[in-house]
Amino acid sequence: MPSYLVVGSSRGIGLEFVRQLAQNADNTVFATARNKQTATHLNAFIGAHPHGNVHVLEVDIADFRTLRNAAADAAKITNGTLDVLIHNAARLDGQNVLRTLLDYPSEEELHNEFMEAFEVNTLGGIHAVNAFLPLLRSGTNKKIIFMGGDAIRHDFIFKTQFTEMSCLSITKFGQKMTALKYAVQLKDEGFTVVTVSPGWVDTSATNVSAGARE
Ligand SMILES: NC(=O)c1ccc[n+]([C@@H]2O[C@H](COP(=O)([O-])OP(=O)(O)OC[C@H]3O[C@@H](n4cnc5c(N)ncnc54)[C@H](OP(=O)(O)O)[C@@H]3O)[C@@H](O)[C@H]2O)c1
Repeated sequence: MPSYLVVGSSRGIGLEFVRQLAQNADNTVFATARNKQTATHLNAFIGAHPHGNVHVLEVDIADFRTLRNAAADAAKITNGTLDVLIHNAARLDGQNVLRTLLDYPSEEELHNEFMEAFEVNTLGGIHAVNAFLPLLRSGTNKKIIFMGGDAIRHDFIFKTQFTEMSCLSITKFGQKMTALKYAVQLKDEGFTVVTVSPGWVDTSATNVSAGARE
């Protein structure tokens, strides 16, 4: 009975991971949302899903205490184990997402945007892995998957001269290094840690303005 955690799965690609993993009734799937009540798309899926194998945990990856509580709740369901952690959450919304380093309205706004994004896109993955590592160590698959993308690929940025999405690229690049550090550190325990790219995916059908949150 493999167990999966998809961090950041109220909507978008994370929700699709949950939807597909939950099709196998033998899987135990943990989905996370910052606010369970307003996770409209996730709740709609679970309401119509027949297997009862999806459990929702309330998690804000910028607050490691919520991850610690979520790990304790998950442990009660799986008897202290987790097989696969998919770290999907990222700070992608907002008016600054497309900005280059040179077109923020002010240096203060650039500073604030980068500090908030660092907490979510860089530190968030570390807090998620550290909170669930005891469960993963007791699991059988020992897989940790981070979501990358073209925005953190050197060759893509050079070839396309891609200056936009500066804050996302820089803070997610830190997450790529996070994956590498864990890959090296946990290798001898049998862990596989990777960063994968989903390509470019239109997730607008479940975005905030499409009713995902109030
Ligand atoms: N879509 C693409 O074309 C594309 C391309 C390359 C890489 N990616 C990567 O794929 C992943 C998913 O992208 P997406 O397009 O599906 O994004 P999305 O639709 O914006 O969904 C983002 C998810 O992250 C969660 N999240 C945001 N901030 C969070 C926080 N502080 N704590 C916990 N959860 C938080 C959101 O939950 P809430 O409901 O709580 O906000 C939501 O479930 C991201 O890592 C992104 O970088 C996407």
